[in-house]
Amino acid sequence: MCGIVGFTGVQQAAPILLDGLSKLEYRGYDSAGIAVRNGENETEVVKAKGRLKALAEKTDNGATVLGSCGIGHTRWATHGEPSEGNAHPHKSDDGNVVAVHNGIIENYLELKEKLTRKGYVFYSETDTEVAVKLIDYYYKKYEGTPIDAINHAMVRIRGSYALAVMFKDYPEEIYVSRKDSPMILGIEDGESYIASDVPAILKYTRNVYYIGNMELACVRKGEITFYNLDGEEIEKELKTIEWDAEAAEKAGFEHFMMKEIHEQPKVVGDTLNSVLKDGQFDLSSVGLSEEEIKDISQIYIVACGSAYHVGIAAQYVIEDLAKIPVRVELGSEFRYRNPLLDPKGLVIVISQSGETADSLAALRESKEKGVRTMAIVNVVGSSIAREADSVFYTLAGPEIAVATTKAYSTQLMATYILALQFAKVRGEISDETYKNMIAELQTIPDKIAKILEDKERIQWFASKQANAHDVFFVGRGIDYAICMEGSLKMKEISYIHSEAYAAGELKHGTISLIEDDILVVGVLTQPDLYEKTISNMVECRSRGAYLMGLTTFGQYNVEDSTDFAVYIPKIDPHFATSLAVIPLQLLGYYISVAKGLEVDKPRNLAKSVTVE
Ligand code: M6R
Repeated sequence: MCGIVGFTGVQQAAPILLDGLSKLEYRGYDSAGIAVRNGENETEVVKAKGRLKALAEKTDNGATVLGSCGIGHTRWATHGEPSEGNAHPHKSDDGNVVAVHNGIIENYLELKEKLTRKGYVFYSETDTEVAVKLIDYYYKKYEGTPIDAINHAMVRIRGSYALAVMFKDYPEEIYVSRKDSPMILGIEDGESYIASDVPAILKYTRNVYYIGNMELACVRKGEITFYNLDGEEIEKELKTIEWDAEAAEKAGFEHFMMKEIHEQPKVVGDTLNSVLKDGQFDLSSVGLSEEEIKDISQIYIVACGSAYHVGIAAQYVIEDLAKIPVRVELGSEFRYRNPLLDPKGLVIVISQSGETADSLAALRESKEKGVRTMAIVNVVGSSIAREADSVFYTLAGPEIAVATTKAYSTQLMATYILALQFAKVRGEISDETYKNMIAELQTIPDKIAKILEDKERIQWFASKQANAHDVFFVGRGIDYAICMEGSLKMKEISYIHSEAYAAGELKHGTISLIEDDILVVGVLTQPDLYEKTISNMVECRSRGAYLMGLTTFGQYNVEDSTDFAVYIPKIDPHFATSLAVIPLQLLGYYISVAKGLEVDKPRNLAKSVTVE
């Protein structure tokens, strides 16, 4: 939810910290701050409310803050309003300990009371200040090392955290620890970097360590030592990040979201080709054997937000092709409902970040129940990727815009691949159908590119809809799954109230909301359901609605029944989601731009939801 960075080396730290934070702003953007240790062993803390720009202006892009060891933070408020006082870094009463934190300390009130009794005074409403003072308390009480102090604090803290901590007595060192919140550590040319996510350090290094859950590290210039909770040194393997630095830049587009929309043909193709060998899928890199595939009795797909919508679309495709029953569940519900899981089931967790707290908890719950787990994840080395029994990596590359587009599309592709492979291995489809369907999947990248060529039409339509108050997306079957994603894209970046409705449900209540000029978007890609959904749309028009129809080119003449028609290229209906979602992504994007909103950083949201 927040972004943290750290640096210790020979260069001036502040510009590097600000640059790193600018790549993490998608994680939180209500305030930001840095703390830098200068040559006289003083720590300068500078904070600003609002976007990172305010902090950059306050420090002349970091030039006025001297020193070569520091930490930084961009905040998404959990405890306490966005303000300079609540912004990180936070420090102990005497400035002995200074830290930044991403996560939530659940028992902070109890700890705060204890520390208040010990004489600590609190200046902010944050849980982070409590963590900082707890570390300071243990540091002084046991007179041990920073590792001992943080270890003691970790045992007392309940919740999630990625912490980067500086101690006055250890001028060029930063101490880090994590539990359920992401953090990577990079190293290059005698300097060391800390970040919540890869884009923040990609410009400086590709050599990274992944720090595990409940582990700590001492980060010195060009040297990182890892410890377990008992304070014993542990070994870590240095890994190389394959993403190239340009992938995390805007490449001439006005917004990351538009850039990422345009990357879809490539990344969807890359994800498909990553497992395609000699005309068939080879899932050996994923780690699922044919025997295991044959053994699956039931699939549970668990995810949040857009990844959940991928699951809903996948449910139709997997059940129809592979004939395996599929349940799709929200991570936040699954984790608390004590689900009954078939021991021969397969839990598939879908997540771009691989760090979504609810999805991660659902994965752990499934593992505890002894069910095989698999992750469809984009971020290499993320918690979900590391903890699942097998991983299907999507190759979307870094996704920066809060509203997902390319990650969603690659997740969809991964589920189609699984559906087809499961169907073939279990003898549910013939070799010929398998071959033809793979050929159909191979057409998707070009067809997405074709839809993007006509984006100006959507832009024009969006400009007419910018003042809309309510939009309804209606469809049946897979089209309903597409509606869910279209509706989320609309509301999250354009702040227009929108709802996705199973078209057949309209008459059970929602149609009472339809009045003059309300936009109803009908998604009509499924031949068997076309007539039914069109009838529901026409019923809305009779009550004053303005209709947009989204359908397949050459299949229907939707212009006769709607006010604005959008066509996508022909495709096997199982895979229509991959094409139909593109105009809906564009619609949300262009309405947001027309309203002058912050497309990449919508209010109240963060890219990666690492708290409940
Ligand atoms: O990183 P994840 O895929 O686990 O994230 C899940 C959701 O938070 C995410 O899909 C969210 O709904 C999107 N930002 C919406 O565009």
